[in-house]
Amino acid sequence: MKKKILIMGIETSCDETAVSIIQDNGSKPPKILANIVSSQEQVHKKFGGVVPELAARSHLEKIEMITKKALKKSKVKLNDINAISATAGPGLIVCLSVGFSFAKSLALALKKPLIAVNHLEGHALSPMFENKLKYPYLLLLISGGHTQFLVVKGLGKYKRIGTTIDDALGEAFDKTSKMLGFGFPGGPKIEKYSKKGDPKKFDLPMPIINKGGCNLSFAGLKTAVLRAKILLKTKKDKYDLAASFQATVLKIIYKKTKIAIGKFRKISKGKSLVIAGGVASNQEIRRIIKKICYEEKFKSYFPKMNLCSDNAAMIAITGLKKFKKRKFDKLNFPVRPRWPLDRRAKFLKGSGVKL
Ligand code: KG4
Ligand code: ZN
Repeated sequence: MKKKILIMGIETSCDETAVSIIQDNGSKPPKILANIVSSQEQVHKKFGGVVPELAARSHLEKIEMITKKALKKSKVKLNDINAISATAGPGLIVCLSVGFSFAKSLALALKKPLIAVNHLEGHALSPMFENKLKYPYLLLLISGGHTQFLVVKGLGKYKRIGTTIDDALGEAFDKTSKMLGFGFPGGPKIEKYSKKGDPKKFDLPMPIINKGGCNLSFAGLKTAVLRAKILLKTKKDKYDLAASFQATVLKIIYKKTKIAIGKFRKISKGKSLVIAGGVASNQEIRRIIKKICYEEKFKSYFPKMNLCSDNAAMIAITGLKKFKKRKFDKLNFPVRPRWPLDRRAKFLKGSGVKL
């Protein structure tokens, strides 16, 4: 009997040290044999954000141990793995270097192919463990570093149709949480405390809501939270501001996703919308996306909750798809702090952007 393909995935682009081993499952979605994620939440908590040097040191301390754990959990021998895939970008250069160099050494020692994976492509393909997703599909990628609408035409084939012109959505959640004193990472905290607040209490702005197509902006919303903070007296006021922030985000997502679907329809016959990235674990965002898909007769796809935030299974599944197409990389492949999925898309961040 033909042996099934086994792929190792390694992820160290930010503050999660993660190793996964997956197995190809023929016509069915691949099986996750191990998916070990070690979060550095405790390391960065007191700084209210990720400190790159501390993150890199922690990756270095943990990567070997996490790899051994993944091998033990999956009951796979290192030599039986068919290829080593690892995140080569985008992300923090010092962090990427740890995982990617480790992957290079493994590939070299085992004489197995090395596959460089784009972290964002990992997020884009993450729902494929649960679903047989067909290209093309519309992707809303919402993470701590990115917020984009992309048309996914195939493996490695992306067209960006919208992006944030300033903060990423996850960043806006994190900063709002920090301003309200809820801590880091902010997304889950804002979601939790919003449940106790009145979403109509504060009237917050929705920057570029009526212009710029499906491009997005969150910086003005964040500044408005900072101003409103002065008015807060009680805990309940804080919850109200958190709830109003989240409700405003939902309105922005509703409007901009509808515009993105309109654009997608003009260039494609697809009828699927995928939401991926850490912010996709937000239940209210999932609810609004399901509503939009119902109205637009689209089907919505979400990664499993544990595959929304950074993990190595999504890197391994991208590795597997590239392995099947024999897309291997040389050992001198460099890490790429910036690595857009759509290389032709214009860089839109910064003031004075003309939309
Ligand atoms: O994809 P991810 O793990 O890392 C990046 O590649 O950036 O996303 C992390 C982001 C953080 O900003 C975090 O606050 C946000 O995802 N996040 C959430 C939720 N869970 C995580 N945002 C809103 N609601 C959540 N439940
Ligand atoms: Zn990510």
